[in-house]
Amino acid sequence: MQSQVSKNISIKKFLKKQSSLKTLRFITCGSVDDGKSTLIGRMLFESQLIFDDQIISLESDSKKSGTQGDDIDFALLVDGLAAEREQGITIDVAYRYFATEKRKFIVADTPGHEQYTRNMITGASTADAAIILVDARHGLMTQTKRHSYICSLMGIKNIILAINKMDLIHYKETEYQKIVDDYKKLASNFDFEKIISIPISALNGENIVNGSKKMPWYKGKSVFKTLETIKIKSSDIQEKLRLPIQWVNRTSSDFRGFSGSIVSGKIKKGDVVNILPHWTQAKIKEIIVSGKKSQVSSKNTAVTVTLDKELDISRGDVLVGSNEPCEISNQFQCNLVWMSSTPGLLGRSHLIKIGHQMAGVQITNIKYKININSFEKLPGKTLELNDICIAEINLDKKIIFEEYIKNKSMGSFILIDRLTNQTIAVGMINFSLRRSQNIYNQKLDVNKISRQVLNGHKSKLIWFTGLSGSGKSTIANALEKRLHEQGKRTYILDGDNIRHGLNKDLGFTDTDRVENIRRISEVAKLMVDAGIIVLAAFISPFRAEREMARNMFEKDEFKEVFVDVPIKIAEKRDPKGLYKKARSGQIKNFTGIDSSYEKPISPEYTFNTDKLKVDKIIEELLIKEFKD
Ligand code: ADX
Repeated sequence: MQSQVSKNISIKKFLKKQSSLKTLRFITCGSVDDGKSTLIGRMLFESQLIFDDQIISLESDSKKSGTQGDDIDFALLVDGLAAEREQGITIDVAYRYFATEKRKFIVADTPGHEQYTRNMITGASTADAAIILVDARHGLMTQTKRHSYICSLMGIKNIILAINKMDLIHYKETEYQKIVDDYKKLASNFDFEKIISIPISALNGENIVNGSKKMPWYKGKSVFKTLETIKIKSSDIQEKLRLPIQWVNRTSSDFRGFSGSIVSGKIKKGDVVNILPHWTQAKIKEIIVSGKKSQVSSKNTAVTVTLDKELDISRGDVLVGSNEPCEISNQFQCNLVWMSSTPGLLGRSHLIKIGHQMAGVQITNIKYKININSFEKLPGKTLELNDICIAEINLDKKIIFEEYIKNKSMGSFILIDRLTNQTIAVGMINFSLRRSQNIYNQKLDVNKISRQVLNGHKSKLIWFTGLSGSGKSTIANALEKRLHEQGKRTYILDGDNIRHGLNKDLGFTDTDRVENIRRISEVAKLMVDAGIIVLAAFISPFRAEREMARNMFEKDEFKEVFVDVPIKIAEKRDPKGLYKKARSGQIKNFTGIDSSYEKPISPEYTFNTDKLKVDKIIEELLIKEFKD
């Protein structure tokens, strides 16, 4: 087997020759078994960046994998990870580099398996073009629609529809044409600028480098020729300077530089820049790239800059051109792709990371979800794995951003689970919602401390969590009685009572429970601010919301008490007869029966009311929490 260009060329020479060429970044997407790895392997091979020793090992691996004769199984080239090979699917994004006489290429090999949408998004976020692979025998699949939708969502304008395995349908034009027509219909839902269809056989190399003799009816370009001629968005166009600061560099006592990667535009020594969010201004004194001073630097370069003034700048701030402001806001409408098997609930608190900025965030509204097959807009209150929706989000502080269509780096973000630290969603900002812009915090003269002094004790929140019938209300009630006798100002917030008033519009779905706890936490915060000792008794079944409540208070103000009795005992007690009703199906979503309870991991107190008398529990709480 002989590749197109001589193989005796060294990588160094080759790269030198290519250094003046432009780079096209693209992704490949397709379903499992569409032949994606074979296509990439074929492209790498034909473009010459596989060397003799690799080919020898590939040949022996191919024999092992059962490929016939001299043929090489190109999929083996890219299915690098052992786990991938075992599963027969590609599970992570791998960036591969190759070049032809005319261009350099970076291809993101993205997974075809449904649960790996996240990797595809990662690959698509920086791509100028996408190759969407379709198996000629099967035509368009759900995955073709999903991938096309994501490409469109990520702002990719050039699509190469590669209809593969043409050898298996005897290179027939009619069948090819039918898939092309189907795709055109599908693509009318998106705003792609260019769709180029190519019939190929990645395995046999048909229409990859040159035109195929097997398909004389196809008059278009091969895959390589297409990739070589697709328009690359010029990086020279007048883009606005955006330099998000990743860290403040103080490598020596007299040096203070600001480091980060330029995500768009250029920076020049002597330029006047604004630093957001404080709108301070300074001149660029020095630019340092890879340890050397530089006069000018542009997009995708990691730089350290020094300024002509001492300014308070920290991680997450953004340097922008002096007449090129960014927007700052804390509420957005966005596209959201949910990537966690834990459902996304309205009101739950997560972290958002946008560039180097972090904040707390809640999804406040799901405007609609997209049905990936029909592109219908569907209503929805929760997000399931792989759901794509238009949502509204609310951050706990303002961040610097740009709309995704204007600047991909400044307009895309990820959501992170506070407890597991995992990425649970990616999003693209459509626009800022300006709801709370004109609401300011009113400064008041009497504050929490002065109220506590007047009351003669500190205010705090004791949060009782546990199953229905565990004894939360009983303990809270007994504790309040004792505190009241001591002349302390107290109040009990109790599930059953609050649900008759403030929260009477809420039921027991996961979403409603999140909202229940959110409102109660807000009320408790006001009460603690008012100087009161608050005893909250709620099942509060989810860790995330208990953590959210905790995070709203100062360190010693929030104490979590886990009232821990086994469900058997709570059910035996069944003070309100609700377990019985739940078992007989009269009540749905009952905690412990058909709705989950997540035990606290490190509560301040755990009491088992089956083993410990209420008096003892009260004594311990009084001693440890209410000595003052
Ligand atoms: S929470 O889960 O949202 O924290 P909360 O403590 O406010 O619940 O309310 C729980 C009380 O509502 C229970 O003690 C019980 O009396 C009543 N209840 C009615 N239906 C349910 C249900 N499906 N699950 C749990 N509690 C229920």
